[in-house]
Amino acid sequence: MNLISRPALSSACIFSALLFWIAGCATQPAISPAMISRAATNGVSESDLVRGHAVLTSQCTACHGLQPVGRYSLKEWRDIVDDMSPRAKLNALQKSQLLAYVTAARESLP
Ligand code: HEC
Repeated sequence: MNLISRPALSSACIFSALLFWIAGCATQPAISPAMISRAATNGVSESDLVRGHAVLTSQCTACHGLQPVGRYSLKEWRDIVDDMSPRAKLNALQKSQLLAYVTAARESLP
């Protein structure tokens, strides 16, 4: 009995630890109407923001956890996106959409 329940318990622990980890890291601001209108003044469309957000939450999490937008300044993000885009094998469009989302999201934070 013990032999059966012990692995089940430890995988439940790992699973809940993973959930907390994901919840703790998933602090990317949602695409708000204010973000969309501010981005529009920079010639960025809502679909660019949506695609940039998707790049950040998919291609940018292949090697490490989701990096909270608020952890870095906009200037730091520009360097990070330059550094990480080749690692994530982003094309020029994906890179610019990622930067558009990060810029709009970072500017929406206090
Ligand atoms: C191929 C693996 C890989 C992919 C894909 C990847 N990263 Fe990274 N990332 C790393 C490694 C390794 C580090 C640790 C620091 C370093 O090596 O520069 C890192 C560090 C970071 C950091 C912390 C930088 C710092 O100065 O502390 C951020 C933010 C980041 N990555 C964002 C991204 C974003 C955004 C993307 C998507 C474009 C991405 N990463 C895709 C491997 C990757």
